[in-house]
Amino acid sequence: MAKYAVDAEYVKEIEEVRRDLRSFITNKKCAPLMLRLAWHDAGTYDAKTRTGGPNGSIRNQQELNHAANKGLKTAVELCEEVKVKHPKVSYADLYQLAGVVAVEVTGGPTIQFVPGRKDSLESPQEGRLPDAKQGASHLREIFYRMGLTDKDIVALSGGHTLGKAHKDRSNFEGQWTRDPLKFDNSYFVELMKLESNDLLKLPTDKALVDDPAFRKYVELYAKDENAFFRDYATSHKKLSELGFNPSCSYRSQLAKAALGMVIASTVVVLGYLLELNKKIN
Ligand code: HEM
Repeated sequence: MAKYAVDAEYVKEIEEVRRDLRSFITNKKCAPLMLRLAWHDAGTYDAKTRTGGPNGSIRNQQELNHAANKGLKTAVELCEEVKVKHPKVSYADLYQLAGVVAVEVTGGPTIQFVPGRKDSLESPQEGRLPDAKQGASHLREIFYRMGLTDKDIVALSGGHTLGKAHKDRSNFEGQWTRDPLKFDNSYFVELMKLESNDLLKLPTDKALVDDPAFRKYVELYAKDENAFFRDYATSHKKLSELGFNPSCSYRSQLAKAALGMVIASTVVVLGYLLELNKKIN
């Protein structure tokens, strides 16, 4: 049985949110934007200082105004429509669940979702998300800071199988794949094609082919979609749980419950002894 840091009622509500998100994201065709929202909320994590991460702080106007987040105001507003129906669910869980559902409804792998993230309004300093104009060493600097690996970098970059770049948001334009609403391994298939066609390749996308350690994963994912789906699901779960340790909070909940039981039993035993004492005297 799954262990959650939340009670049964919250888990039930999460399942309702999941259903709402499924129809909402499908109808509005906003899966790419939702995936980008989840990634940008989580991708600010700094493992050393344990700041940033999937805590819903991206809804903060200050963070939304960071250059990297251009265009995500719409995503935050769309999520608000679900939040008003389910006020108990944290923004942090809502955004991460939206990312998971976005991948699933477009045909991607199932990603295990564990609820219980806490909200914060403390935004990290601007500059923690990757700069698309840079190369492999920059990618490593950014993702290693989150505690992620080379394999995570390549697998997660496969998120660009969805969506497109907009001139007025990032100054880049175009889409990475032929069908930007289908989650498959075509991002890697297109990346391996030598002659650049009409599809988009950011400098950070090209770095995945040029760097030998990255390239071995690109080659694998281009020829084996199952391998991509397996690794993507693992890396996405890691990204969505940066700085969040559900089993740890579960253990602390258990410890609190156990302490409560010890105190309650002590009170009962003391009461009994007192009564007994009264009867004897
Ligand atoms: C590896 C470093 C990354 C860089 C430099 C990067 C950069 C970008 C840029 C420049 C855009 C275009 C934004 C726009 O103009 O609308 C974009 C879009 C997007 N990114 Fe990334 N990204 C990275 C990683 C990721 C990851 C890890 C994911 C998810 C797992 C992701 C998911 C998306 C999606 C779905 C879009 C399309 C959004 C839309 O269609 O509105 N990206 N990214």
